Amino acid sequence: MKKAILATDKYFRLAEVNPRIYGSFAEHMGRCIYGGIYEPGNPLSDKDGYRQDVAKTIKDMGVSLVRYPGGNFVSNFRWEDSVGDPATRPVRLEAAWQNLEDNSFGLNEFMKWARMVGTEPMMAVNLGSRGIEEAASLLEYCNFPKGTYFSDLRRSHGVEDPHNIKLWCLGNEMDGPWQIGYKTAAEYGMMAARAGMLMKRIDPSIELAACGSAGKSLPSFGEWDATVAELSYDFIDYLSAHIYFDNKPDKTPEATKDFLAGAMELEDTIRSVTAACDYARAKRKKKKTINISLDEWNATYRPHGKVPPSMWIKAPHQIEDIFAFEDALLIGSILITMQNHADRVKAACLAQIVNVIAPILTSETQCVRQTIFYPFADASRYGRGTTLSSVIECPTYESRKHGTVPILSGSVIHNEEKGELALFIVNRDGEDVTELKSDLRQFAGKKIIHQTVYSSADLRAANDLEHPCAIVPEKGDYAAFDRGVLTAHIAPYSWNVIVLGD
Ligand code: AHR
Repeated sequence: MKKAILATDKYFRLAEVNPRIYGSFAEHMGRCIYGGIYEPGNPLSDKDGYRQDVAKTIKDMGVSLVRYPGGNFVSNFRWEDSVGDPATRPVRLEAAWQNLEDNSFGLNEFMKWARMVGTEPMMAVNLGSRGIEEAASLLEYCNFPKGTYFSDLRRSHGVEDPHNIKLWCLGNEMDGPWQIGYKTAAEYGMMAARAGMLMKRIDPSIELAACGSAGKSLPSFGEWDATVAELSYDFIDYLSAHIYFDNKPDKTPEATKDFLAGAMELEDTIRSVTAACDYARAKRKKKKTINISLDEWNATYRPHGKVPPSMWIKAPHQIEDIFAFEDALLIGSILITMQNHADRVKAACLAQIVNVIAPILTSETQCVRQTIFYPFADASRYGRGTTLSSVIECPTYESRKHGTVPILSGSVIHNEEKGELALFIVNRDGEDVTELKSDLRQFAGKKIIHQTVYSSADLRAANDLEHPCAIVPEKGDYAAFDRGVLTAHIAPYSWNVIVLGD
């Protein structure tokens, strides 16, 4: 049996976990909206067309924040098309994904849905094909109480009270050559500053996320982040980072080791984007700190640029990845990494929420919880409170891509209000049970109130429409807490949650 030690201390408070890190993303793409969260006429939908099975599943998942309406979609979106009488809304060519968009689901439908599932909206403005004026008018429509053109337009659409949306994205992936209206760092940095200035004049209570680079594979990564942060520093609160982990067809043991260690790449991205923000802070001699909004992240089987065009149909099947158990292990370790960077990662969105690269898959008659659903739901449920810094001493393995990788990845969250301590552990090793010990004598009066394990010897096991419950987590009986010492037998290839409480 392998052995490991987890060391932590109740005074090693890193930061409060911002509940917004348990967010997701709903884009007008494929079947995320149409046939996903919204399907009028389906017996599973309510009178407004919202799929109730999907709404319940999203509530069970504990999604705190939903970014909307894109994504690449937003860069050619006219928000005005999506409000008012649905019968008069235009059908448009949606050029980001080459879908047809009939705008039957729009801004006010989304806001009603967000309230229904109990999630906070994160609204993106189009800084691709449009500019600061349209961003300002959208904000006025959403947040200004009444007595102006756009606020009264909202009221004329039957929405008397302002939506009061607090969190806004200034465009999407603006350094991506695939992005409609993509820009240079200087062009976008100035645009973000100008949009930010205008939007914060209209509503000073909002928080703004500017686009960081779309990812490390782009040559602009790093330089882009520093330039944008420097130019827009006065007006923004977050810089975004996006990261997708390609699950490649290569299933050799070496490739699997690389894939399961993907969180090391996220570590690197977080450090780089933090460095860019802090460089801009030093250069601009500011006191304010810009934090990170990791507003698109997930595993995927379809790398960027390889999505076939839909040839102008509404709601085609696009990137409907079926996630295997190995993806759940990666997603668990990504959540752990975000928790362990709670001091700088303040919002995050699993991309996306339904059908498109999503933890939830629908057909006309059912709604399936994919493997990646489970670690997310656990982290959101038990990962509220303060991250305690922790160190895990454990065996390692060598990865071609990431160097020396610890087999265990873990985080510790102290919820002082509830008197609970949650430990999240991923075992990337498939060979052995690992005995984990932790001296938690500061919590000696507590007992284990919850333990769950999600494990499989078959990394390719998956839930799909034919086998919706092929692989689900189980209640655990692998941990004991005796005189302040936690001993847990961590199964090979597993996601584990242990909660101490009263
Ligand atoms: O989530 C799918 C797409 O990936 C988003 O629209 C885009 O922002 C990213 O490139």
